[in-house]
Amino acid sequence: MHILTTFAPGLNKSTIRTVLLSLMSLEQEIQKRRTFGIISHPDAGKTTLTEKLLLFGGAIQKAGAVKSSKIKDHARSDWMEIEKQRGISVATSVMGFNYKDVKINLLDTPGHQDFAEDTYRTLTAVDSVIMVIDCVKGVEIQTEKLMEVCRMRNTPVICFINKLDREGRDPFELLDEIEEKLNIKVRPLSWPINMGKAFKGVYSLYEKSLHLFTPSKTTVEEGIEIKDINDTLLDDYVGENNAKQLRADIELIEGVYPDFDIEDYLEGKVAPVFFGSAVNNFGVKELLDTFIRVAPPPIPRETTARIIEPNENKFSGFIFKIHANMDPKHRNRIAFLRICSGKFERGSNYYHVRFDKSLRFSNATAFMAQDRETVDEAWPGDIVGIYDTGNLKIGDTLTEGEKVLYTGIPSFSPEIFKEVVNMDAMKTKQLEKGLSQLMEEGVAQLFTYELGKKKVVGVVGALQFEVIQFRLKNEYNATAQFVPQNIYKACWISSKDPKKLAEFIESKQRHIARDKDGKLVFMAESRAWLQMVQDNFPEIHFHFTSEFKD
Ligand code: G4P
Repeated sequence: MHILTTFAPGLNKSTIRTVLLSLMSLEQEIQKRRTFGIISHPDAGKTTLTEKLLLFGGAIQKAGAVKSSKIKDHARSDWMEIEKQRGISVATSVMGFNYKDVKINLLDTPGHQDFAEDTYRTLTAVDSVIMVIDCVKGVEIQTEKLMEVCRMRNTPVICFINKLDREGRDPFELLDEIEEKLNIKVRPLSWPINMGKAFKGVYSLYEKSLHLFTPSKTTVEEGIEIKDINDTLLDDYVGENNAKQLRADIELIEGVYPDFDIEDYLEGKVAPVFFGSAVNNFGVKELLDTFIRVAPPPIPRETTARIIEPNENKFSGFIFKIHANMDPKHRNRIAFLRICSGKFERGSNYYHVRFDKSLRFSNATAFMAQDRETVDEAWPGDIVGIYDTGNLKIGDTLTEGEKVLYTGIPSFSPEIFKEVVNMDAMKTKQLEKGLSQLMEEGVAQLFTYELGKKKVVGVVGALQFEVIQFRLKNEYNATAQFVPQNIYKACWISSKDPKKLAEFIESKQRHIARDKDGKLVFMAESRAWLQMVQDNFPEIHFHFTSEFKD
C-alpha cells in the first residue's frame, strides 16, 4: 500500500485496496491455469487420451463421450460428413475442466493432416503441449511437422508413449528416435516393465512408485511406493526377471540421462517422457498429476512493441481461430480469443487494434468440456468464443487501448497451389466475398499475382479445395474451379537493401504475388529453381513463414 501511495499520492486507501485485491486475484487466477494442446500423428491415441483426461476432470461421465474430431479418409467425397465433423470440432475445440484446483484448458487440434494449418495456429494459443507417440510406430511424419512449430516458440513438451499393451519397439530405441527426429532432448520420468502381452506396468522414476497394469481397468489405483529399486518387494510384484531387467534399465537411464531439470523443460529444451496405455486408462493419471505440477501457467507473450506479462492489469488477447457457423443462412462465425493479460469482462468495450476502434463484446462464450456457456469474465490462459459477423480476422489483437499486435501467428507456406477460376461471371462479387471470408477464417491462403492479378489459393492438404468449392457454392452461391499450378513453395521475401529488392521484383515479375496482408511473396516453381534463384540473389531473404526477422 505504501508503494502505491508513494507513486500515486492522489489515490485514497479504499481505491488502493481495490487495486491490490484485483491484482492478487489476477495472479491467483493465472497460477491456477494450464492451457495446452495434444499433438500426435493420426491414430496415435490423441482422442482417447483427451477422453481419459476429461474423465479425470469430471468433465464427462463415461468413456466414449468424446467424439473423434478427425476427418477420416472416407470423408473425402462425403460432404455431409465434413459438415458434421466441422460441427463436432467446434464443440470440442476447447475443453475446459477443473482438476485438483487447476483450471485446465485443452485446445483440440484437428488430426487430419489436410487441416494442419489449423493445428499450427492453435499451437500459437497454448502454453505447452503433450505429444502422443504410438510405441509400435514411433515418431511419425505429422508429429515431426507439429514439433517444428512447437520449436519455433520453444513450447514446453511432455511426451506420452502410448499403446504399451501392444508389442512395441524397444523403449530406449524410441527415446533415441525422438531425440533424433524431433530434435529435442528427452528425460524418462516413468519406465515400462515389458510390453504387449507381458506388460506389467510402469515404474515412476519421479515418484519412486510402481504402477501395476491390469487391462481395461476404469478405476485408477495408487502406485506402490518403492523408494529403493533394490527392495525385494519389486520382485514380489513383477517377478525376479522383470525386476532384474528394470534395475538394469534404471541404472542405464540414471547413467545416460541428466536429472530432470524443470527449467530446461520450460524452455523447450528437454521433454519429460511417460509411458502408458490411454485406452486402458493406464499411466494417464500420473501424466496429468505431473502435468499440473510442471507445466507452465500462462506465459508472457511477444507483441510488435513489447513483451506483455499475463499479470498486467489491462486486458489483452488475440484471435487464433475462426469457425464458420454451420447455418449458411446466418453468416455469423465464432472467433476464438486467447486471453493473454488482465481480465476480460463481457459487455466491455475493447480496442480492436487493426480497425483502430473500440468494439463491444456482449456475447462471449466460455468452452467447458462439450458445453458452451455465456461467460462474464475470463482470465489469462482462457479461451472465449466471440460471435462475429465478419469483422474479426485471425491474428487480430484486442487491448484496452494500447496499439500493439501479438506476433507469432504466422502463415506457413502451403504445399498445394491452384488458380481460382470464376465459372459464373454474374457472381463475381459473391466469389470475391466468399474467398475473402474463407481466407480470413484460415481455410486456405490466397496469393494475388502482381501481373494480371491472377488469384492462386494455397493449401496444406488437397481436401481443403473440396471444402472451399463446396462452401463457396453453398454459402455464397459462387461457382469456382481450381486449376493446378506448378508451384513448389510460396516464399515471403525481404531485403535490407530496398534497391536490390526492387531489382529482384523487376526481374522475377511473373512470379511475384501478394498475400492477404499485401506482403510480397515469391512463388517458387521447384526446389532446384528456388535454390538457383537464392544463389543468384544473395541479398534477398526467402522465408517459409509470413512472420520473420531479418
Ligand atoms: P487419434 O485421435 O490420435 O487419431 O487416435 P485415437 O484416440 O482415435 O486412437 C486410435 C486407435 O488407437 C483407436 O482404435 C483407439 O482405440 C486405439 N488406442 C488408443 N490408445 C490405445 C492403447 O493404449 N492401446 C491400444 N491397443 N489401442 C489404443 P480404433 O480401432 O481406430 O478405434 P476404436 O474403434 O477403438 O474407437
